[in-house]
Amino acid sequence: MYSLIRKLLFQLDAEDAHELAVRQMIALQQIPIVLRAIERFCAPPPSARRELMGLTFPSPIGIAAGFDKNGLLMPMLAALGFGFVEVGTVTLRPQPGNPRPRLFRYPEHHALINRLGFNNDGADAVAERLKSWIPTVPLFVNIGKNRDVAFDAAADDYGACAMKLAPYADLVVVNLSSPNTPSLRELQRPEHLERILAAVGPAIVKIAPDIDDVMLGEICDVCAKRARGMICTNTTIARPFASNETGGLSGAPLMQPSTAILAKVRQRVGSNYPLIGVGGIFTADDVRAKFAAGADLVQAYTGFIYEGPLMAKRLMR
Ligand SMILES: Cc1cc2nc3c(=O)[nH]c(=O)nc-3n(C[C@H](O)[C@H](O)[C@H](O)COP(=O)(O)O)c2cc1C
Repeated sequence: MYSLIRKLLFQLDAEDAHELAVRQMIALQQIPIVLRAIERFCAPPPSARRELMGLTFPSPIGIAAGFDKNGLLMPMLAALGFGFVEVGTVTLRPQPGNPRPRLFRYPEHHALINRLGFNNDGADAVAERLKSWIPTVPLFVNIGKNRDVAFDAAADDYGACAMKLAPYADLVVVNLSSPNTPSLRELQRPEHLERILAAVGPAIVKIAPDIDDVMLGEICDVCAKRARGMICTNTTIARPFASNETGGLSGAPLMQPSTAILAKVRQRVGSNYPLIGVGGIFTADDVRAKFAAGADLVQAYTGFIYEGPLMAKRLMR
C-alpha cells in the first residue's frame, strides 16, 4: 500500500510531499477512534520497554529531529509505535529557513539531502503545543540558534530557548551539528560546548559525523562531565555519490559513518553513559548494528520517508 502512496508522493517536490503527509497525519490524529486504532495496531510489545535517564521508553526506536519541527504530530508519531518523539529543531524566534527548493531525494541511494536551515515556528508557538499534549511516550525537544544570532551570543540564545521549552519536555537536545546554519558546528568545540551547556542546563548533545578523532575525544570528555547523553549523529556534509546540492546528507549512505562515530563515542565515554544512535536505519539489522556499536536507543528519519508509516511496527517485529 505504501509503495503506491510513495510513488505518488515522490512525484511531488520533496517538501510539498512532506507538508501533504503532515496535513494528513494532523487530520487523522484529530479523530480519536482512528488514533486509538492506530495505537492498538502499532503498540510495541512489553519486551521492547527500556529504562534510561530516569524515563521509561515503550520502545527503543524513536523518530529523529526534523520530521516534526513544530510539535504538531506527537500523538500520531507515538501512536505509530515510536518509543519517543524528538520535536524540533526549534529556535528562540520563528524563522523561514533557506529558499526553496531545499530538500532533495536520491531514491537510488535511499538518501536525502536537505538544507532547510531551521525553518520553524519559534519557541513560544512550539511551547504552547508541547504544553497541550498529554504525553504517552518520552518527549525530547531539540533546540538551535537563530541564523542571525552572532557566534558569541549563541550560548545566551540557546539558554533563552531552553528556558521556554524545557518545562514541557522530558529532555532538551542541543543541536550543534546541523550543516545548514553558518558556523553552527564550530560550537561543538569544547570551549563553546561548555558555555552552551552551562547556559542550557541538563541536556543531550547531538553531534555531527564529520568530526576528527581528536576533536571527537574532546567533545566526549565535555559531554561526559556536563551533558546527560549524546545523539550520534546528524547529517553529513560528505558526498559518497555525485550531487551538486549543498546541505546535509541522510539515509543509507550515512549508516556506516554514523555507526563508526557512535562506536568511537561509546569507547570513550564508557558503558554507562546514555547514547542514542541515528543515521541510515532502514531495517532491523541496521537497528542491531547500532545496538552492537553501543546505542541504548535509536532514531530514524529518512528510513521513515522511504519505508512509510508502519516502519516502527515493522522494525519492532
Ligand atoms: C529533512 C530533514 C530535516 C532534518 N532536520 C533536523 C533538525 O531540524 N534538527 C536536527 O537535529 N536534525 C535534523 N535532521 C537530522 C535527523 O534528525 C538525523 O539525525 C539524520 O537525518 C540521520 O538520520 P536518518 O539517516 O535516519 O535520516 C534532519 C534530517 C532530514 C532528512
